Amino acid sequence: MVYGKHFARIYDAKWTPWGKKLWPFLFKVVREKRPEAETWLDVCCGTGSLLEYVCKRGFSGVGVDNSRHQIKIAKSNVSEAKFYTQDIRSLSLSQKFDVITCTYDSLNYLTVKRDLERAFCKISSHLNPDGIFIFDMNTYEGLQDQWSKTFTVRDPSMTIIVESSFDSKREIGQCIITGFLKEGRLFRKFEEIHIERGYRSAEIEQLLTKTGFSFRKYDGNTLKRPKKRSGRLLYICHRRLS
Ligand SMILES: C[S@@+](CC[C@H](N)C(=O)[O-])C[C@H]1O[C@@H](n2cnc3c(N)ncnc32)[C@H](O)[C@@H]1O
Repeated sequence: MVYGKHFARIYDAKWTPWGKKLWPFLFKVVREKRPEAETWLDVCCGTGSLLEYVCKRGFSGVGVDNSRHQIKIAKSNVSEAKFYTQDIRSLSLSQKFDVITCTYDSLNYLTVKRDLERAFCKISSHLNPDGIFIFDMNTYEGLQDQWSKTFTVRDPSMTIIVESSFDSKREIGQCIITGFLKEGRLFRKFEEIHIERGYRSAEIEQLLTKTGFSFRKYDGNTLKRPKKRSGRLLYICHRRLS
């Protein structure tokens, strides 16, 4: 189980700058390409850091995540949005959306190619015909370059140790998160093991094409033209007209 009760709380406090960083870019793209957009679904929404901006700008925001602990915090962070605890691979909502986003490492958690394809299909079926789907994810190169680190996050109420590694042959990254949370005079220990797959850009693009999307890509960190070894890619996708 990842994003359990303890880590969800820490994730919300320490790991949520991504929504703030991406928001100006996402808003500009949506305003330019779909100025009439009203409804916005953020899948794998975590604790709602992006939806906060979405709702503040007057969109009708919906969030989905498969961790009930992340969703519980998201509900208290963004009271204007609606939230559902669902797995992206079996996403089922009674509504279609003008904009769908999926940000940060979320899609890397789908470690089997078939599951990423399933997720793209579900997203496609929840998108209005002229809707726009924007996502970013770590690449193979990104995990290879970045996931061989150990670092700690520390403040008076907690110590978190993050140990990551990447198996280039299996294309799988592992991140062991060990936390010690202050409870009175003692510390409570928890551990989560996060597994991410580092997809190559060609694999991502083949699945997007197969599931009926056309796309444009950017370097996910600089939000400019992709580089040869972009560690993160961001895709702006539309459903191809058949
Ligand atoms: C790195 S966090 C990103 C959260 C949020 N998008 C952000 O930018 O802060 C990844 C999120 O994806 C969710 N997640 C992972 N696999 C999922 C799945 N199969 N279906 C739905 N949510 C999933 C996790 O629970 C977690 O909240």
